[in-house]
Amino acid sequence: MEKPSKPAPQRGAPIGVFDSGLGGLTAVRELRRLLPGENIIYFGDTGRVPYGTRGADIIVRYAKQDIAFLLEQNVKYIMAACGTVSSTLPKAFTDALPVPYTGVVQSAAEAAVRATQTGRIGVIGTPATVQSGSYQTAITALLPTAHITATACPLFVPLVENGYFNADNAVTRMVAHDYLRGIQAAGVDTLILGCTHYPLIAPILADLMGADVALIDPGRETARAARRALSAAGLLRESGSGTAQYYVSDSTESFARLSEWFLGEYAGGPVTRISVDAYHVE
Ligand code: DGL
Repeated sequence: MEKPSKPAPQRGAPIGVFDSGLGGLTAVRELRRLLPGENIIYFGDTGRVPYGTRGADIIVRYAKQDIAFLLEQNVKYIMAACGTVSSTLPKAFTDALPVPYTGVVQSAAEAAVRATQTGRIGVIGTPATVQSGSYQTAITALLPTAHITATACPLFVPLVENGYFNADNAVTRMVAHDYLRGIQAAGVDTLILGCTHYPLIAPILADLMGADVALIDPGRETARAARRALSAAGLLRESGSGTAQYYVSDSTESFARLSEWFLGEYAGGPVTRISVDAYHVE
């Protein structure tokens, strides 16, 4: 029997973006800047963050539920604005989705390869991301001679989610100093902030790494890739003024308060709490 064809995504439909928490908002900020005509639906799984310290089976189940919610909103495109999900979700699953999907790993790896002069690249990310070797695989495919040093930084996500991201925050600075030791010793000239929460502490990381080290922001790079992908698929909404709607799985108050830091001039938009656990996935 012939397989039923998927309905084509509609140009006027929103873009769906999700993360375990607030980090993916760094990608939303860039999307709003690059694609002002697009409507965006963001889901932050604030009730179950962090993902990056959990096992792959749990991360995959959570990500499938997040995607089920976005598909129900009839999005035309899905961006996993999360290094952990991008490193863990099987390609066979994302290839079978009814709309185009992008994670953050490939775009960040490409940007790092463009930026490096010496081929010595550092990667920081959640334990799940670093253990998966996803960035290492993507970089080596592009630059086989690359020398990569990767370090898991499990405390960064809770620090950022709790508002410990000001450039002069002594606690975050001390933790970062400890985490970056091995990467500094490796003499990298490029550092991938392999988790979308980390751009919030970029001033601290830049200060510790020094001005000669290029920092790669995965959300920013992936927003650029999304623009290219939407344009190639004929799905770009170029006219009009887009809106953003936010959904979370925990308190809307703390999201509204902290999201301003992530969204900057693009802050604002309704925030709704949902029960993502209710989505049944295989
Ligand atoms: N922003 C997610 C990432 O990029 C955070 C991971 C977590 O929830 O631990 O990996």
